[in-house]
Amino acid sequence: MLFKGEHYGVHSATSPAAAFETIRTQYFDLVLMDLNYARDTTSGKEGLDLLSRIAALDSTLPIVVMTAWASIELAVEAMRRGARDFVTKPWENERLIAIVRNQIELARALRKSQRLEAENRLLRSHGQPTLITESPAMTPVIELIERVAPSDANVLITGENGTGKSLVAQLLHIHSRRSEKPFVSVNIGGLSEGVFESELFGHVKGAFTDAKTDRIGRFELADGGTLFLDEIGNVPLSKQTRLLRVLETGDLERVGSSKTVHVDARVISATNSNLNDEVAAGRFRQDLLFRLNTIQIHLPPLRERPEDIPLLAAEFLERHAEQYRKPLKTFEPAALEALKKYSWPGNVRELDHALLRAVLMAEGTMVRREHLGLGAQTGASPRIEEMSLEEVEAYLIRKALARHGGNALKAAEALGLSRSAFYRRLEKYGL
Ligand SMILES: Nc1ncnc2c1ncn2[C@@H]1O[C@H](COP(=O)(O)OP(=O)(O)OP(=O)(O)O)[C@@H](O)[C@H]1O
Ligand SMILES: [Mg+2]
Repeated sequence: MLFKGEHYGVHSATSPAAAFETIRTQYFDLVLMDLNYARDTTSGKEGLDLLSRIAALDSTLPIVVMTAWASIELAVEAMRRGARDFVTKPWENERLIAIVRNQIELARALRKSQRLEAENRLLRSHGQPTLITESPAMTPVIELIERVAPSDANVLITGENGTGKSLVAQLLHIHSRRSEKPFVSVNIGGLSEGVFESELFGHVKGAFTDAKTDRIGRFELADGGTLFLDEIGNVPLSKQTRLLRVLETGDLERVGSSKTVHVDARVISATNSNLNDEVAAGRFRQDLLFRLNTIQIHLPPLRERPEDIPLLAAEFLERHAEQYRKPLKTFEPAALEALKKYSWPGNVRELDHALLRAVLMAEGTMVRREHLGLGAQTGASPRIEEMSLEEVEAYLIRKALARHGGNALKAAEALGLSRSAFYRRLEKYGL
């Protein structure tokens, strides 16, 4: 009567079974429930059981419990099982109405954000990353992805810079049983030896001078999901034993702690160097390599799958044209020729960037050869006198990459650059 007077629609049920059935089949904004139903019971057990069942059915439905026998313990237990609030009998009308109104409002906000999240998940699954290819050179790649994605096998992805290794890692996760769990990516190439362990395994407060708080490591973050170790070839030799142990047992200790944590993460790794060479040179532990490469997927460079160039170029043109609201639709034949003739030392990523540049430069509906900015590399050697310092640097880096078959470590060495300095430049020039 009280709630009807407040213009709420009220539906009542007189037993736990009837209540559950009603909630299961109809939409409600809130449940107000007693804890005792059968005559002469005061334990609250029936109500607590019903509460657990409702909470398991719909965790967003707010439940307010009321009982004449409210002891603090019973109220605490009800809250622990998912009740949002409680009222003791005899109740005060005003207070009861205020609680109900509050809880309905809070739940509306929560339900709305959960619905948005679900919608976002759907959207994401529409705009899912996809591997664009029709080259026969990529058939084994696609077959392997389909075959090993659902398993928990460790996968090592190899290939030159920009061939799509990170994309393949994501695809393996999306098509695995772990897809609802996190995909955590770590760029090992960007980790200095000093922070390697704390980044991967976490640390506890006070473990070292800068450790002001506890920090969870990437392995723990990936628990239940997939951990992607990018540029695995760069794990410092001194850290490889520790990493191997964690991969073997799933057990780790945060830096500064002696407590062992068990983590269940599937490990996918990627590298653009030849790890067998690294093993031979004594820079990479063979047992670690064997642990990582249960399955190996090799991505051929773009120049070995020329069929994919026009396909990818069309895709990137469409994406960037849409993003920058330009009416660009096609390529003039000379532009397409230039795309196909170029050697693409930076592979798919370089193609992507070339098309972004073209979209920004071009007017009208057609991309022309000069918009692609490939002149310097496709024709005769460029005239250094006419280039800016940055252009020269980018040019030399491309050359070095091409000379060393896309191997970034060797190219860096040849140019006299440290690994990290080289990677910074690759990023800067979009290579
Ligand atoms: N076959 C493909 N279809 C569509 N997009 C692709 C394909 N291959 C690569 N890409 C895109 O090209 C870019 C570069 O790919 P990705 O980052 O996966 O390369 P990578 O091999 O991981 O490079 P790096 O060695 O530099 O880490 C990304 O934006 C990726 O989405
Ligand atoms: Mg990558």
